[in-house]
Amino acid sequence: MRKGILSMTAAAAALALGLTACGGDSGQTTTSTSSATASAAQAGKIGVILPDSKSSARWETADRKFLEEAFKAAGVQYDIQNAQNDKTAFQTIADQMVTNGATVLMIVNLDSGSGKAVIDKAKSQGVAVIDYDRLTLGGGAAYYVSFDNTKVGTLQGEGLVKCLTDKKAEKPIVAYLNGSPTDNNATLFKAGYDGVLKPKFDSGDYVKGPEQSVPDWDNTQAGTLFEQMLTEQPKIAGVLAANDGLGNAAITVLKKNNLNGKVPVTGQDATVQGLQNILAGDQCMTVYKAVKKEADAAAKLAVALAKGEKPTASSSVKDPESGQDVPAELMEPQAIYADNVKDVVADGYVTKEELCTGDFAEKCTEAGIQ
Ligand code: BGC
Repeated sequence: MRKGILSMTAAAAALALGLTACGGDSGQTTTSTSSATASAAQAGKIGVILPDSKSSARWETADRKFLEEAFKAAGVQYDIQNAQNDKTAFQTIADQMVTNGATVLMIVNLDSGSGKAVIDKAKSQGVAVIDYDRLTLGGGAAYYVSFDNTKVGTLQGEGLVKCLTDKKAEKPIVAYLNGSPTDNNATLFKAGYDGVLKPKFDSGDYVKGPEQSVPDWDNTQAGTLFEQMLTEQPKIAGVLAANDGLGNAAITVLKKNNLNGKVPVTGQDATVQGLQNILAGDQCMTVYKAVKKEADAAAKLAVALAKGEKPTASSSVKDPESGQDVPAELMEPQAIYADNVKDVVADGYVTKEELCTGDFAEKCTEAGIQ
């Protein structure tokens, strides 16, 4: 127990730590340890590294925005940067953040190897790391905050089945445009949609068509790959595309062949482009992940860590590489079809102004978008 004059900083620190500043008139206070007070008073900086701005619109339009809002509301210092798909830059950004006083890093890795290097170095400097959205395999991050990604894939598989059934497709040939082979999420998405579609291939109801994993989720490469797939197999009748960007790449090729709207395509991320493709009838569905919830959950953990606390997570996931349990917060994804695009607008994820431009105004009215 330490006696002393209660300065503003110490009072704020005590409050931040959830300690009761007592002593009233005497000006005395009680804190657990003076070092805890000191670390709370400094309430370290939080550094966030986003992966890129091309593989999905979400990182810059949703994640950055919602994380910023959460940090501002908590009144903490933060720095959000984007590695633009450059692994060397990723490490450099992490180093700079730590040099500039970050005590917590939140990372969306570009692959597990480079992510692990960032985590290892941060840990050796006493910096806590949160895996944001993507689990770093074998990485040993303190926390993992994401969605139930297998469920995302299940919704995509079920969505494709629904749209093929609506089209009364018989023995449809289904092509796969998987996500990046180095993104653990892509593995989980595929596990989810395979769970739905593989039994259909096995029973002969559906026919497995060409399959490609798209390096770095590169939308341009996805177009080239899908063009080759369609040349190889012109009778592709359904496309399981792992996100809206890959879906749009397939749709662009289908359009050139007058097949858009006839061949259902899936997606993910509820991007403006994906939702417009749905309204146009060119995309079957997308998966909406309420990024605000993900950002809020991650920010809450980061803020607690920055104050020197050890927050508890509501669940955990097993890192398949290390076998270790990583404390985790996992959100629920939602399937979006033409009839519930309005839910995404109502949730404030996209605005009517950005979605209902030009020709889409009429389609928005038809879809009941207010
Ligand atoms: C994310 C998706 C995103 C993809 C490409 C995945 O790890 O979960 O939301 O579409 O990366 O950026």
